[in-house]
Amino acid sequence: MEYILETHRLLKNFGGLIAVNNVDVRVGRNSLTLLIGPNGAGKTTFVNVCTGVLRPDGGRVFFNPHNDESKKIDITGWPSHRVYKAGFVRTFQIPQPFISLTVLDNILVALGNRGEDPFRAPVKPLWIREEEENMRRAFEILKKVELDNYWDWQAFRLGAGQLKMLEVARALATGAKLIALDEPIGGTDPAYASNIFKHLRSLKESVDVTFLVIEHRIDIALPFADYVYVMDKGSVISEGTPDVVVKDPKVIEVYIGG
Ligand SMILES: Nc1ncnc2c1ncn2[C@@H]1O[C@H](COP(=O)(O)OP(=O)(O)O)[C@@H](O)[C@H]1O
Ligand SMILES: [Mg+2]
Repeated sequence: MEYILETHRLLKNFGGLIAVNNVDVRVGRNSLTLLIGPNGAGKTTFVNVCTGVLRPDGGRVFFNPHNDESKKIDITGWPSHRVYKAGFVRTFQIPQPFISLTVLDNILVALGNRGEDPFRAPVKPLWIREEEENMRRAFEILKKVELDNYWDWQAFRLGAGQLKMLEVARALATGAKLIALDEPIGGTDPAYASNIFKHLRSLKESVDVTFLVIEHRIDIALPFADYVYVMDKGSVISEGTPDVVVKDPKVIEVYIGG
């Protein structure tokens, strides 16, 4: 298994509180890796430290966007805009989605803010204007998240699930190789929620993208994951494929007994 993200003994304190306690996580390339755990476990802080929103107090973060071990980069402590340009994107880092803009314009804005672009053709014919090329790419991406038929809708008209997929599409447009989603199904009903996960799964079949998804509700998310990490009180208490993790007594205790 090849990893797009690896952390080694990542540490983050808030005063006396150890929010992330020497955490080792490995995210397989092109996987949907789930980070679960009760509220306050340290999930959001972990992702914030990985993406440069917060500085770590110890440990290292390695990012390997190019399927090439020799190009693995040590992104520990990088500012978030640099992590984003390298292809590790938290959706809130992208310049604001404009709820009054159309679906298409949202993607075009994101295309204008890309780092390294996986959709860029190696040789671009001179007669294709930049705008035309961006338009073609935008529709290509919108098709993948099944929003192409809504291209001229203002974003506020979309449902919660569609809006979440628009966020993901915008991340793809910026050239993201690894997309971190913090509780993407929050606030949506169960039917919508599993739809979002279905979309993420089918997306990673057709695009070289990896998802690191934070979730505290395990019932909906677990069946869609390739691999799962469980955090509690700052530490990873269990990891494995979903079928292994659900049977782990430590996980059961945290979710039911704890
Ligand atoms: N900026 C902060 N300052 C102080 N404490 C924080 C801060 N952010 C998070 N915490 C604390 O760190 C712990 C982990 O929080 P968090 O990462 O948000 O957990 P989760 O995302 O798993 O719910 C919690 O006890 C939380 O109160
Ligand atoms: Mg959180």
